[in-house]
Amino acid sequence: MRAIAAFPKTKEVKLIDHPEPHLVRPTDVKIKMLNVGVCGTDREIWEFKYGTPPPGSEYLITGHESFGQIIEVGKDVKTVKAGDYVVPTVRRACPENCMACQQMRQDFCYTGHFTERGIKGAHGFMTEYVVDDEKYMNVVPPELKEFAVLLEPLTIAEKALMQVYTIQSRLPWECRLEPGGANKTCNNAIVLGAGPVGLLGALALRLLHMDVHVVARQPAPNSKAALADLIGAHYHADAQETPEQIAQSLGNVDLIFEATGAAKPSFDFMRELGTNGIFIFTGVPAPMKDITLDAGTLMRDIVLKNQVVLGTVNAPKVAFENGLRDLAEFRKRWPEAVRRLITGYLPIDRFTETVKRTNPDEIKTVLNINGGVAPTKTQATAAAAGK
Ligand code: BGC
Ligand code: ZN
Repeated sequence: MRAIAAFPKTKEVKLIDHPEPHLVRPTDVKIKMLNVGVCGTDREIWEFKYGTPPPGSEYLITGHESFGQIIEVGKDVKTVKAGDYVVPTVRRACPENCMACQQMRQDFCYTGHFTERGIKGAHGFMTEYVVDDEKYMNVVPPELKEFAVLLEPLTIAEKALMQVYTIQSRLPWECRLEPGGANKTCNNAIVLGAGPVGLLGALALRLLHMDVHVVARQPAPNSKAALADLIGAHYHADAQETPEQIAQSLGNVDLIFEATGAAKPSFDFMRELGTNGIFIFTGVPAPMKDITLDAGTLMRDIVLKNQVVLGTVNAPKVAFENGLRDLAEFRKRWPEAVRRLITGYLPIDRFTETVKRTNPDEIKTVLNINGGVAPTKTQATAAAAGK
């Protein structure tokens, strides 16, 4: 079967022929892949800045944002059946089976020896068939199938929000963010970055009734500003307004959701975090030693304003479940916005066209495998028009 593989030693990324996997354990399932999303992590792996092949393999099959259909199940499989649409989680437990991994919370693995399918030590999903344990499957209702490939990137925000609810419950009055949403006095959020993770985060925050301000590089009009508009969020270009000016238009900045992977602009915005605010980092920047920070002011504010700076990575199964609920809600409220998140579909053998981001209006490119899931007409038209 075909697969997209990165070869770190020879620095090659190519379509290869890889043996088709078969069920091994009685709880295994076999998935026919349909859609696999391309993200910044994949591009870094294709540039050999990140990623590790499985032990003993020269190459790593990439891809972790997936959507497929179960075609075969082992004899002890109970929770899923052939025909189910699924999105598997990404991370797998460490061999030591640490305290977190024991509880299926490998997203908090202590040893760091976890594997991540398509990223670290385990083959990924940019291929035709995949075998995995039923316990990593998240069943997608058929009506969500054309958006399901967005579930994995959405779980980054979902895991963050689960933590925000816990952390902000320390505020002993109404002004805290809870699963039902924000109230009138505590509802300002800034989202840094208008890539898929940023925009999906913006959608999730809008669902919580927050006043959401998305900050990105390109001045409006563009596809990202148009999308922000559709969901009732505000769009700012960082070349046109300073962090201070943006923050002034909001009042107290209660939450900042960083989804850029860029350290300098992130710390510039941290200065604008408000009283009792929470700053969430999700990006993974390259080490950069030449940034000057007013560390004194930052530290002073963190203390005097009771602020929280939170880093979060990966996501557990419950975040996938929450994400499915939110996706269904997005589809109801903002169907056009969700459609426009996927700006292109490519057959797997044309993946090289997404390696370098050349179209500034590109948000999420999805690879179709085994024919993929056909986009609806509106989706295809929007994608073709680059909207
Ligand atoms: C993935 C996560 C993963 C992280 C770090 C992200 O792109 O969505 O599942 O934990 O990269 O490898
Ligand atoms: Zn990703």
